[in-house]
Amino acid sequence: MSSGLKKRETFSSGIAVFFATLGSAVGLGNIWKFPYLTGVFGGGAFLLVYVLCVIFVGIPVMLAEFFIGRNTRSNVIGAFKKLAPGTMWKHVGTMGVGAAYLIMFFYSCVAGWVYYYLFKSLRGDFVGITTESAKTQFAQTVIGPLTPIIWQIIVMVVVGAILIMGVQKGIERVTKTLMPVLFLLIVICDIRALTLPNAFEGVRFLFNVDFSKLSAVAILTALGLAFFKLSLGMGTMVTYGSYFTKGNNLFRTAASVAFSDTLVSVLAGLAIFPAVFAFGMKPGAGPGLLFMTIPLVFSKMPFGNQLLVAFFFLSSIAATTAMLSLVEVLVAYHTEEFNISRRTASIVNSLIIVVIGSTAALSVDPSSLLGSIKFMGKGFFDWYDYISSNILLPVGGFFIAIFVGYIMKQKAVLDELSNSSPKLAVATKIYLFILKTITPVLLIIIFLNSIGVINFK
Ligand code: PHE
Repeated sequence: MSSGLKKRETFSSGIAVFFATLGSAVGLGNIWKFPYLTGVFGGGAFLLVYVLCVIFVGIPVMLAEFFIGRNTRSNVIGAFKKLAPGTMWKHVGTMGVGAAYLIMFFYSCVAGWVYYYLFKSLRGDFVGITTESAKTQFAQTVIGPLTPIIWQIIVMVVVGAILIMGVQKGIERVTKTLMPVLFLLIVICDIRALTLPNAFEGVRFLFNVDFSKLSAVAILTALGLAFFKLSLGMGTMVTYGSYFTKGNNLFRTAASVAFSDTLVSVLAGLAIFPAVFAFGMKPGAGPGLLFMTIPLVFSKMPFGNQLLVAFFFLSSIAATTAMLSLVEVLVAYHTEEFNISRRTASIVNSLIIVVIGSTAALSVDPSSLLGSIKFMGKGFFDWYDYISSNILLPVGGFFIAIFVGYIMKQKAVLDELSNSSPKLAVATKIYLFILKTITPVLLIIIFLNSIGVINFK
């Protein structure tokens, strides 16, 4: 039987839908982007703005994507073809597929470093390290040239193998088992970090409400972060939405995923910053924080190595479940539009990601050939990140909002989102209003700012 004729899979229950969707949202973004940005841009004040962005931009776009997916039961390109046949709208789907590849090219590279650090912490490499050796260990990891590529391959073997198993036996089973484990591990790290002497300074860094730091840049950062964090603008939620069943309450799913994802980010901040301050270190952003500061700080405390294992294990879970949703966009597209098997689609896409993604991994070393190739000051790694996060996601989100808000028959949207229940009709109407007005305007502003057409100080 050809794969196109097989019954399309769905998630088996509401709880499975919740964990799979949360698995997509919770990723590396929670661990190094969110806590740091919150601390730098005014703590509690930034958190407040972030929550408003989630409510006015994140949740409406997520609902719009759920609508497109569940209504058509198709991959992201097929969905637009069904809803607006013979038009250019399918190219919103094409952009989504492009974004999924670009994000995977660099995300799989960072995930490779995370897996390697889990392995290193299990081996005890960080016991008794100093600032210098933390730096050297990180440099050896990213420069390779073989190490980062081998670990990137391992990451893609894991992701590909889970996807081959299918929506229920692969994505659903893994996210349902591992998301609670992630939560438990993060709470354990929190308890340890918060009971360290001087922990309060870290808590203050994260929550101190300082409205004076809330510049226009901070607000735009919060908006962009909400988008990346909730995996929006590129069809991940269209694809997952296409596996939801008619009974799933889309509002409840969107709201509970947005809330839990924010909670995980805050808990990650509470595991990281009290420890950083307790040992008199400075909080940094991105790879430096994750791969140098954390091993250094954790190795100084009692049970530090066990905690490091827990920390890198939970980071590996976060990265892996986010990647499942990215690659599933590609797998669903190829199985449905080209009628190939899930197995072939998973293997071919994992291979493409490893081959092209290795250019991201190799471009991190400035002294290498690939590292020396720069266009407008950015290497491969940075371009993949910039084009996807700053251009494709907000542009995709804008068109998705316009499509569902203005092109679709409003009655169809209303029926789908409210599950045809009068109880949800009022909420749906309010959300449709936000989706048509506030959401697109804010998205245009983030986009123009991120490509430098307007420049806020
Ligand atoms: N939400 C993921 C994170 O926080 C990243 C992601 C973006 C996943 C877009 C899927 C789609 O890391």
